[in-house]
Amino acid sequence: MADKKKMSVAEILAAARQQDSGEGDATPSPAEAAPAAEEVVESAASAESPPAEEPAPATTMKPGERPSVKDILAMARSGESGAATKPAAPKAKAAAEKPAAAAKPKAPAAKKPAAKKEVAERKTTASILAAARRTSKAGPMSKAEAAKQPAAKPKAPPKPKRPVPPMPEKPAYAIPVEPPEVDQSRRTAMKAAGVTAIAAAALFGSALRLGFTSLATTLSLWGLATARFMFPNILTEPPSRFKVGFPDSFSPGVVETKFKAQFGVWVVNGSYRGEQQLYALSTVCTHLGCTPNWLEAEQKFKCPCHGSGFYKDGINFEGPAPRPLERYAIRIADDGQVEIDKSRRFQEEMGQWSDPASFVSV
Ligand code: FES
Repeated sequence: MADKKKMSVAEILAAARQQDSGEGDATPSPAEAAPAAEEVVESAASAESPPAEEPAPATTMKPGERPSVKDILAMARSGESGAATKPAAPKAKAAAEKPAAAAKPKAPAAKKPAAKKEVAERKTTASILAAARRTSKAGPMSKAEAAKQPAAKPKAPPKPKRPVPPMPEKPAYAIPVEPPEVDQSRRTAMKAAGVTAIAAAALFGSALRLGFTSLATTLSLWGLATARFMFPNILTEPPSRFKVGFPDSFSPGVVETKFKAQFGVWVVNGSYRGEQQLYALSTVCTHLGCTPNWLEAEQKFKCPCHGSGFYKDGINFEGPAPRPLERYAIRIADDGQVEIDKSRRFQEEMGQWSDPASFVSV
């Protein structure tokens, strides 16, 4: 066979078809076609690797008859089965790795489903051994596979517990000592002192705060006093000139005392040296400055301090008063009312009561 020219699968199949159709005399004889087909099938078998154990299909060719395509394929398969027994697994494996796409379109007979199934189920010796040595299957498995799995290893017996040594006794310094009982009265006194201290701290704060507070207060008072010193004193005395009403409101012989408290003056409608006048007497005693009182029943002014007495016209007649009461200036204002001016004084011993400004004739 080595000296013969090798034919491709396409050539073999073409020759077979020609033979089937009875054309051409150049069709190779069965003796020639069989080896060629054997080579082609061997190469196809090396690519598809059919199982070697399956028996080759029996041929229906009779002696002296031209083999059909089916017979040629059957012969090729029978020859491949013999080749499968050869230790040429690496060669077949290498041939299987070759791209069979080129051979497939040329050999449509090799694409039969039965042949595919045979090739898929074929296993090499190495893979069979590896599967046999494998103890467990990775991933999910069926019940049948699970039943084939070896039994789980028995659990290791539990380790014996190590004996725990007893706890040592507590040392003396670790034992808590109860505090001695405190006298209840002493505790109460301490509580009271604490409350007092807290109250004092709340009221006055710390000593430093108290000192600064005192200093701030003193400085504030000094500032206020300095500011007050910068302004003059203001006298709240009543005005020296004021009106007391119309002359008709003063009856003859009557001493009007209602202006004593506000203005310090008596308005008298009396007679002086035989002349009826309206004059204003000062309420200041000429002894030491006390304020005499008008005694209506006795018709005199009586000083409560040393007992000086004055008549209705103001002439002194008893007591230590050395001189008569003083008069203030009096006049009829533009509006007809009686106006008194305390800025001007008139003394009787000085002969000033004869001044027309010291009285109003009525
Ligand atoms: Fe009026 Fe002395 S003060 S009698």
